Amino acid sequence: MTKFVERVFSGVQPTGNLHLGNYLGAIQRFVEMQNKYNCIYCVVDEHAITVWQDPKGLQNAIREVTAAFIASGIDPKAHIVFNQSQVAEHAELAWVFNCVARMGWLNRMTQFKEKAGKDKEAASVGLFAYPALMAADILVYRATHVPVGEDQKQHLELSRDIATKFNNDFAESIAAHGFEDGFFPLPEPLIQGAATRVMSLRDGTKKMSKSDPSDLSRINMTDDADTIASKIRKARTDPEPLPSEEEGLKGRAEADNLVAIFSALSGRMVADILGEFGGGQFSTFKTALADLTVAKLSPITTEMKRLMADPAHIDAVLADGSARARTIAAPIMNSVKDIVGFIRAK
Ligand code: TYM
Repeated sequence: MTKFVERVFSGVQPTGNLHLGNYLGAIQRFVEMQNKYNCIYCVVDEHAITVWQDPKGLQNAIREVTAAFIASGIDPKAHIVFNQSQVAEHAELAWVFNCVARMGWLNRMTQFKEKAGKDKEAASVGLFAYPALMAADILVYRATHVPVGEDQKQHLELSRDIATKFNNDFAESIAAHGFEDGFFPLPEPLIQGAATRVMSLRDGTKKMSKSDPSDLSRINMTDDADTIASKIRKARTDPEPLPSEEEGLKGRAEADNLVAIFSALSGRMVADILGEFGGGQFSTFKTALADLTVAKLSPITTEMKRLMADPAHIDAVLADGSARARTIAAPIMNSVKDIVGFIRAK
């Protein structure tokens, strides 16, 4: 098997309302990866327009995700932070992958079914082909590790299927161009931590999401301390007190979710948390959770606001990151063109 350089890639859509789920399931993980890997973090604006986005709102949302990355502790100098549309190779490789992926594979994607809703005929072609672009995002850097929340698992499996089929379909040409055994790595999903699937504060069976019409369902990364405390106070729970053992969280989705959030924010084990709060009133636990959430998020929110006040600086970070991303993506895309049999100027 070809040895691939270990590299992390992940992306976040600039579709507004960045929330605690995005932070705990993804951004907090991105920060941790920096010590171990070379990382590329992308604001995936081309994914965002698979559903209608107001152009001014989109620009603001791109800057907001960038600010959230930096404010959370991602170092855009040591690693790469950029927006997808500035690196044309993503869209170029996505086209090749549209021709590798099969309709049947994409038809099975649950996220398309959820997002398209009842009227599939009215969904954009982009929304259907979305996972092929996602595979291109990762593989245009031949990235090997992809930290994401649980909801992206199926898309990552599809990325692996696309990489495998490309490697098989073009095996002879890949070898003829001097690549030993397969051109693309099979990217490994890193779905880790205590909160890989943060649920809505209003309904423990639904995931916390940017598009939930109820703002009370999520904690936004831009919420102030009072709003955070009030949302946690109002979070749905059942009438029972918190259990003292982990077993007791089974079948209690809302309680389970709040304890998982506590665990992810504090780095403490669930058993340890239940040891402290089990048997007590929910309100005591909720106060502690609100304090913890505010303590963790408010320095990030403050820093995001400071960064957002200087859009030119954010745009410069994105331009610099995009230029560095292109130096990795361009030679890989050139090899793809050679492998597929396109002619290009040399
Ligand atoms: P997006 O923008 O919906 O979400 C960004 C990241 O946040 C995670 N996440 C959650 N984690 C825990 N609990 C939740 N409730 C929750 N909601 C969201 C997501 O799993 C994700 O990691 N398709 C991707 C963006 C993307 C991408 C990529 C990711 C495009 N290309 C290439 C990795 C690699 C998406 O829509 O994420």
